[in-house]
Formats: sequence, C-alpha cells, structure tokens
Amino acid sequence: MSKEIKVFAPATVANVSCGFDVLGFAVDSPGDEAIVKMVDKQGVIITKITGDGGRLPLDPNKNTVSATIIKMLDHLGEKRGFEIELHKKMPLGSGLGSSAASSVAGIFAVNELLGNPLSKIQLLPFAMEGERLASGTAHADNVAPALYGGFVLIRSYNPLDVISIHTPSDLHAAIVHPHIEVETRDARSILRKDIKLKDAITQWGNVAGLVTGLLTDDYNLIGRSMQDVIVEPLRAILIPGFYEVKEAAMDAGALGGGISGSGPSIFSVSKGKETAEKAGKAMVDAFKKIGIESDLFVSKINAKGPIVI
Ligand code: HSE
Repeated sequence: MSKEIKVFAPATVANVSCGFDVLGFAVDSPGDEAIVKMVDKQGVIITKITGDGGRLPLDPNKNTVSATIIKMLDHLGEKRGFEIELHKKMPLGSGLGSSAASSVAGIFAVNELLGNPLSKIQLLPFAMEGERLASGTAHADNVAPALYGGFVLIRSYNPLDVISIHTPSDLHAAIVHPHIEVETRDARSILRKDIKLKDAITQWGNVAGLVTGLLTDDYNLIGRSMQDVIVEPLRAILIPGFYEVKEAAMDAGALGGGISGSGPSIFSVSKGKETAEKAGKAMVDAFKKIGIESDLFVSKINAKGPIVI
C-alpha cells in the first residue's frame, strides 16, 4: 500500500553577516515543496520537478532532494522505496538555501512516512551531505535552520553541536534576489584560508553580540553586530551594487544586513514588517538604479522549519 505526504521546507539566510558557516535563520517564504510517496518497490526515484526551468537533475544520486534520502535509507536498512515530486519555489544559485530546502523537504517527508525513526539532530548529517553534493562542503548553516526553524548556531561541526537561538518576535527579514547567479562553490573558492587575528577579534565580538542581541530582544545590538570583516569584503565584488543596496536598506531603517549565504541575494533585518518592507523596496530600487532587476521577499523569521501541508 502506498502512503503520500506533501511537505514545505523554508528558504534560509546563512552566515547572517558575521557568522560564516555557523549562523543561519529560516524565513516563512519562499520555500520548496516536495510530494513524497512511499512504495513497496525498493529505490528512490524523482518523478517530476517543477520551477527549475529544467536545470536540476532527475538522477536520484545527483539531486539533493533524493541523494540525502538514499543515504538515510541505507543507514536505516530500509527496504521500502520512495517517489518524489519536487516543486522548486525559489530561484537556484540565489543564496537563499535552495539546495538545503530541497534536502530538508525530502528527508523530513521520508522520516514522517516511516513514523519518525530519526530526530532532527540525527537527520541533520544527511541534509549536510546534500550541501556537500551541491557545493563541495558539508556546511550546516542553511540546512540546520531549514530543519529546525528560527535562528540556529552551529557551535561545533565535530562533534556536531547545534543550538536553536531565541528570536525576537518582531524581527522581520527582507531578502532581495538580483537576477544574476553566483554558485556557492565559486563564492567559497575566492575566500582566504587564513585570517588576521585583528579581524578574528572583530568577528567573534560581533558573533557574540548578535547572539546576545537575539537572546535579550535587543534589536539595536542585533543590528550593530551584523558586521562581517572577513567574508563580505571578498564576496561583495561578485555582487554589482552590493554596498549601495545595503546602504539603501540602512537608510530606510533596517537594523543591519549583508550577503544572504554565498549570494547574490542581499538580506536586511528590521524591527517590524512595515520597516522590513520599506527597506526591501529601497534595496530593489537601488538595484534598479544600476540596471539590475530583482525579486523581493519580506517575511517573519520562520519558527517551525519543515511542515506537512
Ligand atoms: N556558509 C555558506 C557560505 C552558505 O557562505 O558559503 C552557503 O549558502
């Protein structure tokens, strides 16, 4: 007998300026949807993908939505099979955690269909393997917030130590996606392997400040901690108009902002939906001024992670 569910998994903003590879948050929209069916015949197949313009592979070993499930089923010794329909509801290569949303939607759905044999922390390594497939490294700052919802800190990768951080209730994000593409793999390849102690001091002060601001509902502290002196200066060159767009958000009242994940999307956070919308529109206008069209997503911080819909 076959059983089927439909799952939504949210887009995410990784790094959150100062927290390269260790901080991320999920948003209510956009996100991916997966319809997953459990069947008697062993194996995982992708029956359909929409919203990707035909660019994502249907080969189950090459797509993050299924490769992660294959690893998870191997681990569980599971003999039943799964058929997946993936509906991409966000741009690819955008810095919105597109591959992470697909992996999380897939493994969450399969876990539900199997009666939840694995906890979220047990599912996470499989989702991280999806990131390795998509970008060459198994970073968790997209997949962990996509799976847990809210703000998440990856305190340690080895052993894996993931901490959900309280999010102030009025915090909203505006994410602007310019119509250009940056591959995470490329955006990582331009980073330096070593950093100066002086920069490290600035950076860890800001990470601690940001986490403290979130925990104490101190919006001002959240904003002034969103400074990245290590990664942003190198990656900004990949995004035409980056500094102008960020400044436009700040002028419109945003608390802070930066590159969303590995870009090219730029995010800002604001207190209240109205300010977030104002900041978002200002960012879109700033891109337009230099001849770049963009899409705007304004959303509350997502509290739940993936859900059955
Ligand atoms: N932390 C990762 C990076 C996120 O910035 O490369 C990728 O979206």
